[in-house]
Amino acid sequence: MCSTRRFSWLAAGWCLLLIFVCSLGCDQGNKAKEKTKSSPAESCCEEDSGEKESKDADKDKTEKAADTKATEAKVPEKKAAETKAPEKKAAEAKAPVAKPAANKPTADLAKYEALLDNGKVKTPLGLPPVPIPADNPMTAAKIALGEKLYFDKRLSKDGTISCATCHDPAMAWAEHTPTSKGIGKQVGGANSPSVINSAYATSQFWDGRAGSLEEQALGPIENPIEMGHELKEMIADLNNLSEYKEAFQQVFGTDVTREGVAMAIAAFERTVLSGNSPYDKFKAGDKKALTDSQKRGMELFEEVGCSTCHTPPVFSNFRFYNAGIGMDKKPPDEGRKAVTKKDRDLGKFRVPMLREVANTAPYYHDGSVATLEEAVAIMADGGKKHEKVSGMLKAVGENKISPEGKKDLVEFMKALSGDYPRKPKS
Ligand code: HEC
Ligand code: HEC
Repeated sequence: MCSTRRFSWLAAGWCLLLIFVCSLGCDQGNKAKEKTKSSPAESCCEEDSGEKESKDADKDKTEKAADTKATEAKVPEKKAAETKAPEKKAAEAKAPVAKPAANKPTADLAKYEALLDNGKVKTPLGLPPVPIPADNPMTAAKIALGEKLYFDKRLSKDGTISCATCHDPAMAWAEHTPTSKGIGKQVGGANSPSVINSAYATSQFWDGRAGSLEEQALGPIENPIEMGHELKEMIADLNNLSEYKEAFQQVFGTDVTREGVAMAIAAFERTVLSGNSPYDKFKAGDKKALTDSQKRGMELFEEVGCSTCHTPPVFSNFRFYNAGIGMDKKPPDEGRKAVTKKDRDLGKFRVPMLREVANTAPYYHDGSVATLEEAVAIMADGGKKHEKVSGMLKAVGENKISPEGKKDLVEFMKALSGDYPRKPKS
């Protein structure tokens, strides 16, 4: 029933992606290549030609794979580092599924209106305009509803988990465990990325299996090891709560629907942005905003080609590369191959954005790297040794970046931490 809408999201997603690829990608790649001391063995265009091809071929598969079950349902045995998990969850774990919330008056919309300017999201210094899909316009009431849903544990089957459990504003909208625990303390296979600036991503998830935030939002609710809730059941539960029934009527003119849930959550996520960092202030002319080490790091970041993949202003080109992470596992982490079914995409993951990266440890798609220093060192050395590692990344390693250089790069990463919403508005 939602296929038309889903199709248009998908189509919009692909269009954006293509425009991005055409306007930025090869151009950036070549520019960076010119500057790079040891020129990458393969240009970004070469590495991506396969990628583009596979995109067309997989539109349909993506849709099915977006179900999330395929990749997210892997349950690895290793639980070692899970001990760091915050204990606060336990205390809150008792909320029964259908307990009606205290009947708050409709949220004060003024603070949500303040996020918007003529239907556009106001952006902090340094960020480009937030792309808004034509079929999901931003309104204050929709953002408020999306926020409420995002923080509501009743969306999970046993009432213990909300989106914020794994993407917590107090942890820069990520989670400080290598992989996440869903309902019944089940452990997933991937590190929970920050939701910050996900509004700019041209695909969602480490393997890009969802095309848009709208498409992404329903995945975790149904995922048996995340929130484990049959959508039909959840929609029925929400329709029994007058606070939601009324809010949906107000925003969408319908009862609670799955499309509405997805659209409201996505609208809210488009307001979770980070900018106004020392880097942005420096770029805007405040030459004192960066330390000397950060300035050196910034130059190195461009010189050796980090910026080819981690392209400013959001520090990702949203393409997929193999960095050697998870390749030593048996079997190796599939990455993009799970979506395209192509061998050449084995172990490729979407380039993560780097804003707030200093606040979102641990690192990489499997959360296998604990510190920023270590994460940067792996990249600076050209990825984790494996034959499948991207030629562009290997070329970065050929620069033999010194320990001081690595330190400067880490300092530069810290300069990408700025302002972002620290807690729910309501
Ligand atoms: C049990 C933990 C958990 C819960 C609950 C959860 N997520 Fe996630 N989320 C993850 C993990 C892990 C990933 C990465 C999965 C992957 O890429 O395979 C992810 C990925 C995402 C992404 C993609 C970000 C990116 O950069 O690709 C978004 C957006 C997101 N989640 C939003 C949500 C929303 C909205 C909800 C609530 C409806 C939610 N999540 C619930 C763990 C969780
Ligand atoms: C060929 C593209 C490419 C280049 C060049 C590149 N990276 Fe990356 N980077 C990636 C990919 C892909 C990942 C995620 C890999 C994974 O999780 O399997 C990543 C991950 C990271 C992470 C971890 C982020 C997180 O949230 O987990 C950091 C930090 C990072 N890169 C910094 C750098 C720095 C510094 C450089 C230059 C020395 C660099 N990268 C060069 C593609 C690239």
